[in-house]
Formats: sequence, C-alpha cells, structure tokens
Amino acid sequence: MDHNLLSEEKGGWGYFVLRQFHSITGLFLLGLFLWLHLATHLFILRGEEAYIQALSFIFHLPYLDLWRVLLVWLPLIFHISMGCYIISRASFRLSCPNSLGNWLYFFQRLSALIALMFLAYHIAYVKLAAPVDLVDATARARWMLEHLKRHLEKAEVFGLYLVGIGALVFHYVNGIRLFCLRWGLVSSSTSRKILLGICGGIGGLMFWLWLEILLRFHLHREYLKAVI
Ligand code: HEM
Ligand code: HEM
Repeated sequence: MDHNLLSEEKGGWGYFVLRQFHSITGLFLLGLFLWLHLATHLFILRGEEAYIQALSFIFHLPYLDLWRVLLVWLPLIFHISMGCYIISRASFRLSCPNSLGNWLYFFQRLSALIALMFLAYHIAYVKLAAPVDLVDATARARWMLEHLKRHLEKAEVFGLYLVGIGALVFHYVNGIRLFCLRWGLVSSSTSRKILLGICGGIGGLMFWLWLEILLRFHLHREYLKAVI
C-alpha cells in the first residue's frame, strides 16, 4: 500500500471507518454524478434543441430534489468536510525516492482545493443564477442554455472551467487508483503500473469530452454561423 495512506490511518477505528466512507462517496456517488452530468451536457454536441430536451428530461425527473439531496448534496458535503480534515493532516515527503507516489499524493490534495473553488463558483454562477420562479422544465432548460452560452463565451470563464474541470478529472481518476489501493484490489507493482495507465486513459477520455462541451459553448457563435 502507498506509504502515505498507511501513515494517515493512525487515527483509530472511527477515523478508519470515516475514511472508507469518504472513499465510497468519492468513487461511487460523486463519481456517478460526474459521469451523469457529463452525459447530460454532451447533448450540446447534438445541437441546441437536443440539449434543451436532455436538460428538461433531468428537470422533469420525479422527486428530483430528493435525488439531488441524497445522491449529490449529502455525499458532496460529507466528502468535502472529511476531505478538508484529511488535507489538514497531510504530510508531504517530497524528498522521498518514491517521488511519483508523493507527487500524486500532493496533487490529489491540491486538485481537491481547486475542485472546491470551482464547484463553489459553478454552483453560484450557474445553478443559483436561474430565476427561482422558472419552474417549467423546458423553459428552465432554454434559459440555462442561453445563460451558459453568455457565461462560457467569456475567455476568463472558459479558462476557469478548463482548470476547474482539469483538476476534478485528475482528482477523480487518481481517486480511482487510490480506491483500488485502499481496498486492496491491486498490490503488485505490475498491477499498480497497469492501473496507473488505465486511470490515465479514463482521465484523458473524460477531459477530452468535457473540453468538447466547453468549446461548443465557448465558440457557440462560430457553430451558429457554420449551421446557418
Ligand atoms: C461544461 C461543463 C458544465 C456545464 C455546462 C454544467 C452545467 C450545469 C447546469 C446547467 C447546472 C444547473 C442544473 C439546475 O438548474 O439544477 C449544473 C449544476 C451543477 N453542476 Fe454543473 N456543469 C458543468 C460542469 C460541472 C462539473 C465538472 C461538475 C463537478 C462535479 C459540476 C457540478 C455541478 C453540481 C454539483 C451542480 C448542482 C447539482 C444540482 O443541484 O442539481 N458541473 N451544472
Ligand atoms: C465531484 C467531485 C469529486 C469526486 C468525484 C471525488 C472523488 C474522490 C475519490 C474517488 C477519491 C479517492 C478515495 C480513496 O482514497 O479511496 C477522493 C479522495 C479525496 N478527495 Fe475527492 N472527490 C471530489 C471532490 C472533492 C473535493 C471538492 C474535495 C475538497 C476537500 C475532495 C477531497 C478529497 C481528499 C482530501 C481525498 C483523499 C485523498 C487521499 O487519500 O490521498 N474531493 N475523491
């Protein structure tokens, strides 16, 4: 097991259980949300009407607020609060020869902090930007599309999303690696190398798909000219 993971487990049984729960919320609940959120926004590549249909499908889901609280907000609040505690206990040993493990340890925590700032910004300027009385699902989806085009066409916002999403994708795929180490799914150095490669591949694919979405919103005027 990665020596840094062991050093942090000296927090007793309670801490160990919370860490395992933190691991599960990160990989399964927040990981699932990340893929579902990506799949929804990929519809922009099929054109604006397809995107409005995809968003209004989500907004039409029965008990949507219940799923949001159970599958997104509670896991996110727990993962972030426990995550901040884990970061506060971090011990960086960059001089250690096993430098790749330590650099990944360091970037997992740095990417966590960047992800936190990105999520706060994103939720403030997208989710909370929508007029509260806009309850009709299709009207809300149409409003969101126009808002995202105005929002993401700005170079500084585009840049911020690129960094925020880059950090999140790194955090998630390195998180997959950590999960496999933590739960003893991989042990030999060969399987660790293969896992690193697989996680790198998943990361490359996910970042490329998010980049396609970002570019489609950022360059929406060019796309409009192309289809007219
Ligand atoms: C180009 C990239 C993205 C676009 C266009 C986008 C778009 C949106 C939209 C339209 C909403 C509002 C939904 C509503 O009105 O309820 C939303 C909410 C949200 N987004 Fe994103 N998003 C993007 C990237 C991300 C990423 C990378 C994350 C990271 C996990 C993320 C996390 C969230 C969260 C947590 C919410 C609130 C969920 C809810 O309460 O429904 N978004 N996003
Ligand atoms: C949608 C967003 C996020 C996803 C999908 C996610 C996913 C993950 C995964 C899969 C892990 C590995 C779990 C393990 O060690 O077995 C992890 C670890 C971690 N996450 Fe997140 N995370 C997200 C957001 C955040 C945020 C915003 C923070 C900010 C505090 C954070 C802090 C941490 C920390 C400190 C670790 C432990 C790293 C370690 O053990 O080396 N995460 N995350």
